[in-house]
Amino acid sequence: ALERTFSIIKPDATRRNLTGKINAKFEEAGLRIVAQKRIHLSKAQAGEFYKVHAERPFYDELCEFMASAPIVAQVLEGENAITKNREVMGATNPADAAAGTIRAEFAESVGENSVHGSDAPETAKEEIAYFFSGLELVG
Ligand code: CMP
Repeated sequence: ALERTFSIIKPDATRRNLTGKINAKFEEAGLRIVAQKRIHLSKAQAGEFYKVHAERPFYDELCEFMASAPIVAQVLEGENAITKNREVMGATNPADAAAGTIRAEFAESVGENSVHGSDAPETAKEEIAYFFSGLELVG
């Protein structure tokens, strides 16, 4: 079914000017960028977005990193967009990511791994609503 997922191009990637190369990977996979904005999160905003990870040992480092430079927040649309996006991103740890995936090609480490993508329909809905209003979604 036609589906939407939420995506972030992370600070390690915006810093290295990789937004266009990463977007090309999404588009080549048949994902359409139906909303996109470049923003610089505060550490508190990053913490709110990643609050499910609040008890993890890497939470503070994750929030610092996500607030260290601009991100590009996006909504991607396509057939089975959530699964397709996860395939294009590759495994969380770039050492485990399949050849040709975004993380295999661009990620620097498990923490600085270039992209985030929603893991399920319910989280996609919540994450899209955290960053975008309905008026900003342009299919
Ligand atoms: P993401 O898909 O954005 O969701 C949570 C993030 O936490 C994850 O990508 C990684 O960037 C980060 N993360 C996961 N495991 C670790 C780890 N062991 N050390 C540092 N960061 C991590």
